Amino acid sequence: MEQFENFLINQLPKIESFHPYFEKAVSHMLLAGGKRFRPHLLLSVVEGLEPLLIKSSLSVALAIEILHTYSLIHDDLPAMDNSPLRRGTPTIHTVWNEATAVLVGDGLNTLSFETIAKAPLRDDIKIKLIKILAESGGINGMVLGQAIDLEFENKNISLEQLKFLHINKTGKLIAGSLKMGAVISGRFDLEESLWNLGISLGLLFQIQDDILDSTSNEREAGKPVNWDSKKNSFVTVLGLERAIIEANLLADKIENELNKFEINLKNSLEKLLFKYLRRHN
Ligand code: IPE
Ligand code: IPE
Ligand code: MG
Ligand code: MG
Ligand code: MG
Repeated sequence: MEQFENFLINQLPKIESFHPYFEKAVSHMLLAGGKRFRPHLLLSVVEGLEPLLIKSSLSVALAIEILHTYSLIHDDLPAMDNSPLRRGTPTIHTVWNEATAVLVGDGLNTLSFETIAKAPLRDDIKIKLIKILAESGGINGMVLGQAIDLEFENKNISLEQLKFLHINKTGKLIAGSLKMGAVISGRFDLEESLWNLGISLGLLFQIQDDILDSTSNEREAGKPVNWDSKKNSFVTVLGLERAIIEANLLADKIENELNKFEINLKNSLEKLLFKYLRRHN
Protein backbone atom coordinates (compact mmCIF):
# COMPACT_ATOMS: atom_id res chain seq x y z
CA MET A 1 0.00 0.00 0.00
CA GLU A 2 3.06 2.18 -0.42
CA GLN A 3 1.41 3.17 -3.69
CA PHE A 4 -1.37 4.90 -1.75
CA GLU A 5 1.06 6.81 0.48
CA ASN A 6 3.04 8.10 -2.53
CA PHE A 7 -0.17 9.06 -4.28
CA LEU A 8 -1.35 11.01 -1.23
CA ILE A 9 1.92 12.94 -1.00
CA ASN A 10 1.73 13.84 -4.71
CA GLN A 11 -1.88 14.94 -4.47
CA LEU A 12 -1.65 17.25 -1.44
CA PRO A 13 -3.77 20.32 -2.15
CA LYS A 14 -1.93 23.38 -3.46
CA ILE A 15 -3.26 26.61 -2.03
CA GLU A 16 -1.82 29.82 -3.37
CA SER A 17 -2.48 32.83 -1.18
CA PHE A 18 -0.78 35.27 1.17
CA HIS A 19 -2.15 33.40 4.22
CA PRO A 20 0.94 32.64 6.33
CA TYR A 21 0.14 29.00 7.23
CA PHE A 22 -3.21 27.85 5.80
CA GLU A 23 -1.66 25.58 3.15
CA LYS A 24 0.52 23.92 5.78
CA ALA A 25 -2.43 23.50 8.15
CA VAL A 26 -4.52 21.77 5.45
CA SER A 27 -1.86 19.09 4.92
CA HIS A 28 -0.75 18.83 8.56
CA MET A 29 -2.99 15.97 9.70
CA LEU A 30 -3.05 14.18 6.33
CA LEU A 31 0.74 13.95 6.46
CA ALA A 32 0.85 12.83 10.10
CA GLY A 33 0.16 9.23 9.05
CA GLY A 34 -2.52 7.07 10.58
CA LYS A 35 -3.35 3.51 9.69
CA ARG A 36 -5.08 4.39 6.38
CA PHE A 37 -7.54 1.61 7.18
CA ARG A 38 -10.45 2.90 5.06
CA PRO A 39 -8.49 3.53 1.82
CA HIS A 40 -6.77 0.18 2.24
CA LEU A 41 -10.18 -1.50 2.57
CA LEU A 42 -11.35 0.02 -0.70
CA LEU A 43 -8.12 -0.90 -2.47
CA SER A 44 -8.27 -4.47 -1.12
CA VAL A 45 -11.74 -4.93 -2.59
CA VAL A 46 -10.61 -3.63 -5.99
CA GLU A 47 -7.45 -5.76 -5.75
CA GLY A 48 -9.63 -8.83 -5.16
CA LEU A 49 -12.16 -8.06 -7.90
CA GLU A 50 -10.60 -5.94 -10.68
CA PRO A 51 -6.88 -5.43 -9.98
CA LEU A 52 -6.41 -3.52 -13.26
CA LEU A 53 -8.55 -0.74 -11.78
CA ILE A 54 -6.31 -0.13 -8.74
CA LYS A 55 -4.63 2.91 -10.28
CA SER A 56 -7.92 4.62 -11.15
CA SER A 57 -9.18 3.87 -7.61
CA LEU A 58 -6.42 5.75 -5.80
CA SER A 59 -8.26 9.09 -5.98
CA VAL A 60 -11.37 7.53 -4.46
CA ALA A 61 -9.34 5.89 -1.68
CA LEU A 62 -7.76 9.29 -1.05
CA ALA A 63 -11.17 10.97 -0.93
CA ILE A 64 -12.26 8.65 1.89
CA GLU A 65 -9.05 9.31 3.84
CA ILE A 66 -9.54 13.06 3.38
CA LEU A 67 -13.10 12.90 4.72
CA HIS A 68 -12.00 10.69 7.63
CA THR A 69 -9.16 13.10 8.45
CA TYR A 70 -11.61 16.01 8.53
CA SER A 71 -13.74 14.03 11.01
CA LEU A 72 -10.71 13.52 13.27
CA ILE A 73 -9.72 17.20 13.14
CA HIS A 74 -13.21 18.21 14.24
CA ASP A 75 -13.41 15.32 16.77
CA ASP A 76 -10.34 16.73 18.54
CA LEU A 77 -11.66 20.29 18.82
CA PRO A 78 -12.31 21.70 22.30
CA ALA A 79 -16.07 21.68 21.54
CA MET A 80 -15.91 17.92 20.93
CA ASP A 81 -13.27 15.64 22.54
CA ASN A 82 -10.71 18.40 23.24
CA SER A 83 -7.58 16.45 22.37
CA PRO A 84 -4.07 17.91 22.00
CA LEU A 85 -2.58 14.93 20.17
CA ARG A 86 -3.54 12.89 17.09
CA ARG A 87 -1.50 10.51 14.96
CA GLY A 88 1.43 11.24 17.26
CA THR A 89 1.36 14.90 16.32
CA PRO A 90 -0.11 18.04 17.99
CA THR A 91 -3.64 18.79 16.77
CA ILE A 92 -4.27 21.73 14.44
CA HIS A 93 -6.06 23.80 17.05
CA THR A 94 -3.07 23.50 19.40
CA VAL A 95 -0.45 24.27 16.72
CA TRP A 96 -2.43 27.20 15.26
CA ASN A 97 -5.93 27.95 16.55
CA GLU A 98 -9.50 26.63 16.72
CA ALA A 99 -10.83 28.65 13.79
CA THR A 100 -8.12 27.17 11.58
CA ALA A 101 -9.00 23.62 12.69
CA VAL A 102 -12.70 24.23 11.94
CA LEU A 103 -11.90 25.66 8.51
CA VAL A 104 -9.37 22.97 7.58
CA GLY A 105 -12.01 20.37 8.47
CA ASP A 106 -14.60 22.18 6.35
CA GLY A 107 -12.14 22.40 3.47
CA LEU A 108 -11.19 18.71 3.63
CA ASN A 109 -14.87 17.73 3.71
CA THR A 110 -15.57 19.48 0.40
CA LEU A 111 -12.19 18.43 -1.04
CA SER A 112 -13.14 14.77 -0.60
CA PHE A 113 -16.09 15.13 -2.99
CA GLU A 114 -14.06 17.24 -5.42
CA THR A 115 -11.44 14.47 -5.44
CA ILE A 116 -14.01 11.85 -6.50
CA ALA A 117 -15.51 14.20 -9.11
CA LYS A 118 -12.04 14.49 -10.71
CA ALA A 119 -11.19 10.75 -10.56
CA PRO A 120 -10.41 8.93 -13.83
CA LEU A 121 -13.65 6.91 -13.75
CA ARG A 122 -16.99 6.94 -15.57
CA ASP A 123 -19.39 9.70 -14.54
CA ASP A 124 -22.20 7.31 -13.54
CA ILE A 125 -19.78 5.42 -11.29
CA LYS A 126 -18.56 8.67 -9.73
CA ILE A 127 -22.12 9.80 -8.91
CA LYS A 128 -22.69 6.48 -7.11
CA LEU A 129 -19.44 6.90 -5.20
CA ILE A 130 -20.27 10.47 -4.15
CA LYS A 131 -23.67 9.30 -2.94
CA ILE A 132 -22.17 6.49 -0.84
CA LEU A 133 -19.53 8.75 0.69
CA ALA A 134 -22.12 11.42 1.54
CA GLU A 135 -24.49 8.86 3.05
CA SER A 136 -21.77 7.13 5.09
CA GLY A 137 -20.06 10.27 6.33
CA GLY A 138 -23.05 12.60 6.64
CA ILE A 139 -26.12 13.30 8.73
CA ASN A 140 -27.34 9.69 8.69
CA GLY A 141 -23.83 8.33 9.23
CA MET A 142 -20.66 9.60 10.89
CA VAL A 143 -22.07 13.05 11.72
CA LEU A 144 -25.15 11.55 13.40
CA GLY A 145 -22.92 9.18 15.40
CA GLN A 146 -20.77 12.08 16.57
CA ALA A 147 -23.88 14.07 17.56
CA ILE A 148 -25.21 11.18 19.68
CA ASP A 149 -21.75 10.49 21.15
CA LEU A 150 -21.50 14.08 22.41
CA GLU A 151 -25.12 14.55 23.48
CA PHE A 152 -24.98 11.45 25.70
CA GLU A 153 -21.69 12.15 27.49
CA ASN A 154 -22.28 11.48 31.17
CA LYS A 155 -25.72 9.98 30.39
CA ASN A 156 -26.52 6.27 30.35
CA ILE A 157 -27.59 4.55 27.15
CA SER A 158 -28.51 0.92 26.45
CA LEU A 159 -26.25 -1.57 24.66
CA GLU A 160 -28.55 -1.40 21.61
CA GLN A 161 -28.23 2.40 21.55
CA LEU A 162 -24.47 2.15 21.96
CA LYS A 163 -24.29 -0.17 18.95
CA PHE A 164 -26.38 2.31 16.95
CA LEU A 165 -23.97 5.08 18.01
CA HIS A 166 -20.85 3.12 17.01
CA ILE A 167 -22.36 1.88 13.74
CA ASN A 168 -23.05 5.46 12.70
CA LYS A 169 -19.94 7.11 14.13
CA THR A 170 -17.48 4.58 12.72
CA GLY A 171 -19.22 1.63 11.05
CA LYS A 172 -20.82 3.35 8.09
CA LEU A 173 -17.67 4.97 6.69
CA ILE A 174 -15.90 1.62 6.93
CA ALA A 175 -18.88 -0.10 5.27
CA GLY A 176 -18.95 2.64 2.63
CA SER A 177 -15.25 2.08 1.86
CA LEU A 178 -15.92 -1.60 1.06
CA LYS A 179 -19.08 -0.82 -0.91
CA MET A 180 -17.25 1.80 -2.99
CA GLY A 181 -14.69 -0.86 -3.90
CA ALA A 182 -17.54 -3.01 -5.28
CA VAL A 183 -18.95 -0.06 -7.27
CA ILE A 184 -15.58 0.82 -8.84
CA SER A 185 -15.17 -2.85 -9.82
CA GLY A 186 -18.62 -2.86 -11.45
CA ARG A 187 -19.72 -5.59 -9.03
CA PHE A 188 -23.06 -4.11 -7.98
CA ASP A 189 -24.14 -7.62 -6.87
CA LEU A 190 -21.64 -7.37 -3.99
CA GLU A 191 -22.63 -3.91 -2.73
CA GLU A 192 -24.98 -5.18 -0.06
CA SER A 193 -22.88 -8.04 1.30
CA LEU A 194 -19.76 -5.86 1.48
CA TRP A 195 -21.73 -3.09 3.21
CA ASN A 196 -23.01 -5.59 5.79
CA LEU A 197 -19.52 -6.96 6.36
CA GLY A 198 -18.32 -3.37 6.85
CA ILE A 199 -20.96 -2.62 9.47
CA SER A 200 -19.78 -5.56 11.60
CA LEU A 201 -16.15 -4.67 10.94
CA GLY A 202 -16.71 -1.01 11.82
CA LEU A 203 -18.41 -1.96 15.06
CA LEU A 204 -15.46 -4.24 15.90
CA PHE A 205 -13.02 -1.47 14.97
CA GLN A 206 -14.70 1.01 17.33
CA ILE A 207 -14.92 -1.56 20.17
CA GLN A 208 -11.19 -2.14 19.72
CA ASP A 209 -10.63 1.64 19.81
CA ASP A 210 -12.60 1.77 23.08
CA ILE A 211 -10.53 -1.11 24.48
CA LEU A 212 -7.32 0.66 23.40
CA ASP A 213 -8.47 3.83 25.14
CA SER A 214 -8.43 1.94 28.42
CA THR A 215 -5.48 -0.46 27.88
CA SER A 216 -2.96 1.20 25.56
CA ASN A 217 -0.50 4.05 26.08
CA GLU A 218 -0.14 7.40 24.38
CA ARG A 219 3.00 6.45 22.44
CA GLU A 220 1.37 3.31 21.02
CA ALA A 221 -1.98 4.96 20.26
CA GLY A 222 -0.56 8.28 19.00
CA LYS A 223 -3.36 10.01 20.90
CA PRO A 224 -4.18 10.50 24.58
CA VAL A 225 -5.55 7.42 26.36
CA ASN A 226 -8.12 7.22 29.14
CA TRP A 227 -9.51 10.26 27.42
CA ASP A 228 -13.06 9.16 26.90
CA SER A 229 -14.16 8.10 30.40
CA LYS A 230 -17.28 10.32 30.35
CA LYS A 231 -18.33 8.74 27.06
CA ASN A 232 -20.55 5.79 26.36
CA SER A 233 -18.10 3.20 25.08
CA PHE A 234 -18.04 -0.59 25.12
CA VAL A 235 -15.69 -0.40 28.08
CA THR A 236 -17.72 2.11 30.09
CA VAL A 237 -21.04 0.37 29.34
CA LEU A 238 -19.99 -3.30 29.58
CA GLY A 239 -16.68 -3.23 31.44
CA LEU A 240 -13.37 -4.30 29.87
CA GLU A 241 -13.90 -8.04 30.19
CA ARG A 242 -17.30 -8.11 28.49
CA ALA A 243 -16.09 -5.65 25.84
CA ILE A 244 -13.34 -8.13 24.97
CA ILE A 245 -15.87 -10.99 24.78
CA GLU A 246 -18.07 -8.91 22.43
CA ALA A 247 -15.04 -8.11 20.26
CA ASN A 248 -14.10 -11.78 19.99
CA LEU A 249 -17.68 -12.76 19.09
CA LEU A 250 -17.79 -10.13 16.38
CA ALA A 251 -14.43 -11.26 15.00
CA ASP A 252 -15.88 -14.80 14.66
CA LYS A 253 -18.92 -13.44 12.84
CA ILE A 254 -16.75 -11.42 10.44
CA GLU A 255 -14.58 -14.44 9.67
CA ASN A 256 -17.70 -16.44 8.80
CA GLU A 257 -18.94 -13.66 6.53
CA LEU A 258 -15.52 -13.39 4.86
CA ASN A 259 -15.55 -17.11 4.07
CA LYS A 260 -18.65 -16.65 1.91
CA PHE A 261 -16.88 -14.35 -0.58
CA GLU A 262 -15.19 -15.52 -3.77
CA ILE A 263 -11.63 -16.62 -3.15
CA ASN A 264 -9.67 -13.65 -4.55
CA LEU A 265 -11.77 -11.14 -2.63
CA LYS A 266 -11.60 -13.20 0.55
CA ASN A 267 -7.81 -13.53 0.31
CA SER A 268 -7.22 -9.90 -0.38
CA LEU A 269 -9.44 -8.74 2.51
CA GLU A 270 -7.98 -11.31 4.89
CA LYS A 271 -4.47 -10.05 4.20
CA LEU A 272 -5.53 -6.61 5.42
CA LEU A 273 -7.81 -7.76 8.22
CA PHE A 274 -5.88 -10.47 9.98
CA LYS A 275 -4.46 -8.13 12.59
CA TYR A 276 -7.90 -6.66 13.35
CA LEU A 277 -9.46 -10.11 13.67
CA ARG A 278 -6.79 -11.28 16.09
CA ARG A 279 -8.46 -12.39 19.31
CA HIS A 280 -8.03 -10.49 22.54
CA ASN A 281 -7.62 -12.60 25.61
C1 IPE B 1 -9.93 6.94 14.71
O1 IPE B 1 -9.86 6.29 13.47
C2 IPE B 1 -11.35 7.20 15.02
C3 IPE B 1 -12.14 5.96 15.10
C4 IPE B 1 -13.15 5.77 14.34
C5 IPE B 1 -11.81 4.94 16.07
P1 IPE B 1 -8.55 5.47 13.11
O2 IPE B 1 -8.20 4.57 14.25
O3 IPE B 1 -8.72 4.86 11.77
O4 IPE B 1 -7.47 6.65 13.04
P2 IPE B 1 -6.20 6.81 12.10
O5 IPE B 1 -6.74 7.15 10.73
O6 IPE B 1 -5.42 5.54 12.11
O7 IPE B 1 -5.45 7.97 12.70
C1 IPE C 1 -14.31 9.35 16.70
O1 IPE C 1 -14.40 8.43 17.70
C2 IPE C 1 -14.86 8.80 15.47
C3 IPE C 1 -14.94 9.81 14.42
C4 IPE C 1 -15.95 9.83 13.63
C5 IPE C 1 -13.91 10.81 14.23
P1 IPE C 1 -13.40 8.67 18.92
O2 IPE C 1 -13.59 10.01 19.51
O3 IPE C 1 -13.47 7.48 19.80
O4 IPE C 1 -12.02 8.66 18.14
P2 IPE C 1 -10.62 8.89 18.83
O5 IPE C 1 -10.52 7.91 19.97
O6 IPE C 1 -10.59 10.32 19.27
O7 IPE C 1 -9.66 8.57 17.73
MG1 MG D 1 -15.09 11.40 19.66
MG1 MG E 1 -12.04 11.43 20.05
MG1 MG F 1 -11.77 6.60 20.74
